[in-house]
Amino acid sequence: MLKGQKIAILGLQWGDEGKGKVVSYFAKDYDWIVRFSGGPNAGHTVYYGGKRFIHHLLPSFSKDNSSQKLLIGSGVLIDLEVLKEEVESVSKIISNVKDRLYIDKKANLILEYHKIVDELSERLKGNKAIGTTKRGVGPAQADKINRIGVRIEDLENEKLLLEKLEMNIRMKKELWKDEKMDSLDSKKIMDSLLKTAEFFKDNFKSSIDYRDEILNSSVLFEGTQGLLLDIDFGTYPYVTSTSCSSGGISQGTGLANLKLDKIYGVLKAYTTRVGEGPFPTEDKTERGEKLRKVGGEFGATTGRPRRCGWLDLLLLRYAVRYSGVDSLVLTKADILNGIEKIPVCVAYEIDGKRYEDIDDMGLLLTNKIKPIYEYMDGWKDLKDVNFEKYVRFLEDQLGVSIEVVSTGPETNDVFFRV
Ligand code: GDP
Ligand code: IMO
Ligand code: MG
Repeated sequence: MLKGQKIAILGLQWGDEGKGKVVSYFAKDYDWIVRFSGGPNAGHTVYYGGKRFIHHLLPSFSKDNSSQKLLIGSGVLIDLEVLKEEVESVSKIISNVKDRLYIDKKANLILEYHKIVDELSERLKGNKAIGTTKRGVGPAQADKINRIGVRIEDLENEKLLLEKLEMNIRMKKELWKDEKMDSLDSKKIMDSLLKTAEFFKDNFKSSIDYRDEILNSSVLFEGTQGLLLDIDFGTYPYVTSTSCSSGGISQGTGLANLKLDKIYGVLKAYTTRVGEGPFPTEDKTERGEKLRKVGGEFGATTGRPRRCGWLDLLLLRYAVRYSGVDSLVLTKADILNGIEKIPVCVAYEIDGKRYEDIDDMGLLLTNKIKPIYEYMDGWKDLKDVNFEKYVRFLEDQLGVSIEVVSTGPETNDVFFRV
């Protein structure tokens, strides 16, 4: 039935919607799982046989499909050290993952100096800091666009690699005038990079090595972050540096004119955000605190407490529009079990004017927004009729059906509605 089927699973909020869990549930039927954007800023939590595992760079996969192949596409910014650690640690739970891993040689590398730049630029931005994960993703993407990035394929030519590193380090020392930068040595960086790269030598591939096979296989594309963090359509500048929408898939894999059979959008039953930036429905009271505690809302990558608040229908409609989703997966509604009245934001009041839809993220940045809430009757558990009413309300408001409900963190904690 799945022969050749291609689907994508994308986040619709500010990340951490539960994409990893949802991917691991759907994954068993797919020949390939593909990452096309993001980098080690991502933290996707998956349970493999009851063991909790956090994916940063390696696609989330199914433990029940041992021939499934995993691709890290050219659109992903790769920190080889992080990836090596991840592969080594997942191999303790499931063997042969590395044998099935493909890493596109056109992908750009995150190097030591990118992490230093990430930290320094955040510091220099002062009260305009973004609150990045400091994993070097933004600076590595900036170098890529500035055509000074180091790609995996550069590792094949030591002379060229050293020249590129020397140029980059020279430029960065000149621009950043910082102790940490001053202590960098191109040769040392190259040697350590080549040593780590040796571990992956059988995994580095050209597009030609997998392209035809992928196009003829069933594929699940795993999104990173969420639409509201998308470089173009998110709450810019408080966003990440890569694409989080379906638009990024062809770009980040080289699979041009790809026809997706279905795009699933993952939304959490409430909203969270890590880092700075607008968040109209943020709840800074003890109710928000409770969401954080019950929902375990602490960053999977940085451990930072996530800001918590309520669902925002204006932003969700926006996200549905810009990611082109066909169907929804609702996660973490179980965290709301037992709450008597559940606020859902149905409109904004800006300068005394009511907005029921929004298409300009700039409005969020430049205005004081008063969220207008509707209060939904709460539920005891997800079998409660009030939960079904809440789901129908969301479907009606978003114009897309909620096909799947996730009921807990483990892979098989789900039920299908349609
Ligand atoms: P991702 O980045 O979108 O993959 O999400 P994260 O892994 O960063 O954060 C989601 C958190 O919620 C993880 O701790 C998951 O184990 C957990 N989780 C996912 N779905 C559910 C669910 O339906 N219910 C509960 N209680 N936890 C969930
Ligand atoms: P997953 O895939 C939540 C946020 C950071 C910061 C902004 C820019 O697990 O959903 P960056 O390091 O990318 O330059 O930081 O984006 N951010 C995430 N927030 N989940 C993520 O990934 C995130 N990746 C980046 O907190 O606000
Ligand atoms: Mg996450």
